[in-house]
Amino acid sequence: MSSDLEALLHETRRFAPPAAFAAAANAQPSIYDEAAADPVAWWRQQARRLTWDVEPTETLSWNRPFATWFADGRLNASVNCVDRHVANGLGDRVAFHWVGEPEDDTRTITYRDLLAMVSQAAHALTDMGVRRGDRVAIYMPMIPEAVVAMLACARIGAAHSVVFGGFAADALSDRIRDADCRVVITADGGYRRGAAAALKPTVDEALADCPGVTGVLVVRRTGQDVAFVEGRDHWWHDLVERQSTEHQPESFPAEQPLYIMYTSGTTARPKGIMHSTGGYLTQVATTHWYAHDLKPETDVCWTSADIGWVTGHSYIVYGPLANGATQVMYEGTPDAGGRDRWWRIVEEYKVTILYTAPTAIRTFMKWGKEFPAAHDLSSLRLLGSVGEPINPEAWIWFYETIGGSRCPVIDTWWQTETGGMMMTPLPGIAAAKPGAAMRAFPGISVDVVDHDGHSVGNGQGGFLVITQPWPAMTRGIWGDPERFAETYWSRFENAYFAGDGAKRDEDGDIWLLGRVDDVMNISGHRISTTEVEHALVGHHSVAEAAVVGASDETTGQAIVAFVTLKQEFAEQSDDELITQLREHIARTISPIAKPRQIVFTPDLPKTRSGKIMRRLLRDVAEHRALGDVTTLTDPNVVNMIGDLMNAHQSDDE
Ligand code: WT7
Repeated sequence: MSSDLEALLHETRRFAPPAAFAAAANAQPSIYDEAAADPVAWWRQQARRLTWDVEPTETLSWNRPFATWFADGRLNASVNCVDRHVANGLGDRVAFHWVGEPEDDTRTITYRDLLAMVSQAAHALTDMGVRRGDRVAIYMPMIPEAVVAMLACARIGAAHSVVFGGFAADALSDRIRDADCRVVITADGGYRRGAAAALKPTVDEALADCPGVTGVLVVRRTGQDVAFVEGRDHWWHDLVERQSTEHQPESFPAEQPLYIMYTSGTTARPKGIMHSTGGYLTQVATTHWYAHDLKPETDVCWTSADIGWVTGHSYIVYGPLANGATQVMYEGTPDAGGRDRWWRIVEEYKVTILYTAPTAIRTFMKWGKEFPAAHDLSSLRLLGSVGEPINPEAWIWFYETIGGSRCPVIDTWWQTETGGMMMTPLPGIAAAKPGAAMRAFPGISVDVVDHDGHSVGNGQGGFLVITQPWPAMTRGIWGDPERFAETYWSRFENAYFAGDGAKRDEDGDIWLLGRVDDVMNISGHRISTTEVEHALVGHHSVAEAAVVGASDETTGQAIVAFVTLKQEFAEQSDDELITQLREHIARTISPIAKPRQIVFTPDLPKTRSGKIMRRLLRDVAEHRALGDVTTLTDPNVVNMIGDLMNAHQSDDE
């Protein structure tokens, strides 16, 4: 935990929900008791938000660590997100105000438009041989077709696996192979940082190692030249747009896999987190309804995440669309066209609910108040944060400068594995403290426990656990059920171990304190230390590498790598090699995994049993006084590394 957070814990301000907001809030105070009285029955009630082809009679079946929810019910996720709204007379409601990165490149997509697009895409995927139970990879920029592609997969019962467009060819290829995808949906490219970036060449490179892929569907977004493989590749505008806009949806069992989302764990291999249809959709719709306090007729929601991460899945696609919300979807970077780009968008579309990440908030803080101040942000009525602990300063800045001290701020804790929000102060009825996710969502049971799994008292720290199954809980790791049990359900006897440290304050409110495992959080992106180490030792010059996440003012954490070079490269420990190694990581994982700093060292600190002492390296990286070094084989190594840190600095981008 950062020391400024520690200091602020003692002078916490409480923010009572604004009275005007509270009166009309979707969640009324009785909700907590109602859900606590019988959480399973409460979720059963929430499942009525969905339109079922066959109403479920079963609710939870729990065979730890595997749960099913609503298992005998049948439904179609795309019907729930699209068709039923059109059938209810809401066809003209805007689903997306889409804003491209280039100025004036916008599209308005109503629910009726969305239905036609999804129907056509579903036909096209069927034409390409995609069948129920298949997997489809989606590697796309933030354009409406990305949402359409996801819903079209759901419509025909194929699980999608969206891979963030920033991932490199190797990372994409690994994910496509692991999930055994049959088809890839992509685009020629997308706009990032004021320029057209290519995507299709990366797909071609990735597919060199993926013989299972028989078809590629390519959206023309930028007009760049792309190579086409005859028989394999198809333009979206050829294949999709000639299809019928009517498509008869099938209904699927509630446990039908909806998607796989890869995320980094503590090993070098990312895990394919699987999600179901009925339970997942119930939780994302319910949490979006109460935590975002959605008023579908009047709200304009903007979740600033990329579709390539779970936040985009749950709070751009499935939650808001199931609830019939109107949203803004923005393609580009926050400073494309000026540092006030976001605030122009808020003003123009009268955004009411803004859900974003602490790293974005800190970036805006750094840029200065004048950019938001130049725009009318009075449409905003609710602000949300997700992805990493939000420092109290950023929370207060968000509340005051963006929300005009008028809007509740919800700090929502959850994970790829949880599928939907698990903790947040409910706006309107629960007090908030800057920096604290406060308490569990209704119907969710969390606890903070010590090493032995015992609940800690107020004023004490420990590990966050989830003690009861929840509807959107991952149904496991693709292809590896054992690993699911091991990773999440073995550390504590009767609980799901989230991997986060937490603290219960004197009032009993819960604060998240960051990961306690070897997972780093860089700008809200989850990156494993082992994955980066693995990439580093994959470079011909590297003998050994240790990677840690060091705290960083803007990105939350930043990657610091300690690298021992092979003998023949030892002389070459210069800036050029640092650049090479950073590029190597960008190419094998993603630019977001590039270390902020690489330190060459002749040795790494190890315990007598040969384990690298990452805790010590983190101390070094954060310039902290070193703790106990008695178990080290050679305590001098650490001091030497400390000196080297200051000698070899590599510039941040
Ligand atoms: C990890 C999950 C949730 C979707 C985006 C990230 C951290 C997330 C918070 C929060 C403190 C948070 C945790 C968690 N995290 N939200 N509000 N306060 N920490 O999903 O990539 O699966 O990462 O992000 O460490 O375990 P993810």
